[in-house]
Amino acid sequence: MGRLDDKVCLITGGSRGQGAAEARLFATEGGTVWICDVLDEEGTALAQELDIQYRHLDVTDEQRWSELVAEIVAASGGINVLVNNAAIFRANRMVDTSTEEFQLVMDVNCKGVFLGMRSVAPAMMASGGGSIVNISSLAGMRAAAGALAYSTSKWAVRGMTKVAAVELARKGIRVNSIHPGLIETPMAAEVGPGQEKLIRRTPLGRIAQAEEVAKMALFLASDDSSYSTGSEFLIDGGLNAL
Ligand SMILES: NC(=O)c1ccc[n+]([C@@H]2O[C@H](COP(=O)([O-])OP(=O)(O)OC[C@H]3O[C@@H](n4cnc5c(N)ncnc54)[C@H](O)[C@@H]3O)[C@@H](O)[C@H]2O)c1
Repeated sequence: MGRLDDKVCLITGGSRGQGAAEARLFATEGGTVWICDVLDEEGTALAQELDIQYRHLDVTDEQRWSELVAEIVAASGGINVLVNNAAIFRANRMVDTSTEEFQLVMDVNCKGVFLGMRSVAPAMMASGGGSIVNISSLAGMRAAAGALAYSTSKWAVRGMTKVAAVELARKGIRVNSIHPGLIETPMAAEVGPGQEKLIRRTPLGRIAQAEEVAKMALFLASDDSSYSTGSEFLIDGGLNAL
């Protein structure tokens, strides 16, 4: 028996990195998995490999969110799990962050998560409840100096997770955030030379693999986490303990 048997799951940013690892694990655990992204080639190939569904969705597109949720409900009979994983990273200090860059990062990382939660909530209620997993970051727990817009957006994700969790609790919907440290994906490569320094500072002394985050996402998506909502789940090799 799989831990996601009978659960319909949507993962944003599922074409590569952590989203792809979550899609792989969720499918193994019996979930009916839908992934969406703006990287159509990678997403389509992964969907074919795993026998899951891929759709193009830019998470900032309100109209497309409505259409996709309606399509999933019609095809799969409801929706039980949303992983708001899609995001972008920009490495700029506060004084070097343009207004345009700040807005872009907030649109994808923050508005995208808000639109995702708001779009799926009615369908989840109709399905008798569900679980929303928002991927924030260690940068949403502490000051990620050198990445002002990114850090701001991830603090916002942490905050809106708590508000949504309280508002949706009596509707049977749990909402939690995951806060990864350094995870080996294309995004981590964008951190640049700072990566080695961060690994040296990490108590466990290494970078993590996307599959390790996927296991945390599986726990929160499944009924194993039935009494957890509005909480922060760190997976950072001990960095936040310093
Ligand atoms: N890699 C790390 O070290 C690290 C650390 C902390 C938090 N995170 C967070 O983990 C999550 C997954 O990141 P990752 O490491 O797998 O990075 P990644 O860059 O490999 O994956 C992000 C995915 O999001 C997609 N995406 C970007 N903009 C989008 C948009 N507008 N609409 C739809 N999809 C979009 C990308 O195409 C990509 O497939 C992100 O929320 C990221 O902020 C990553």
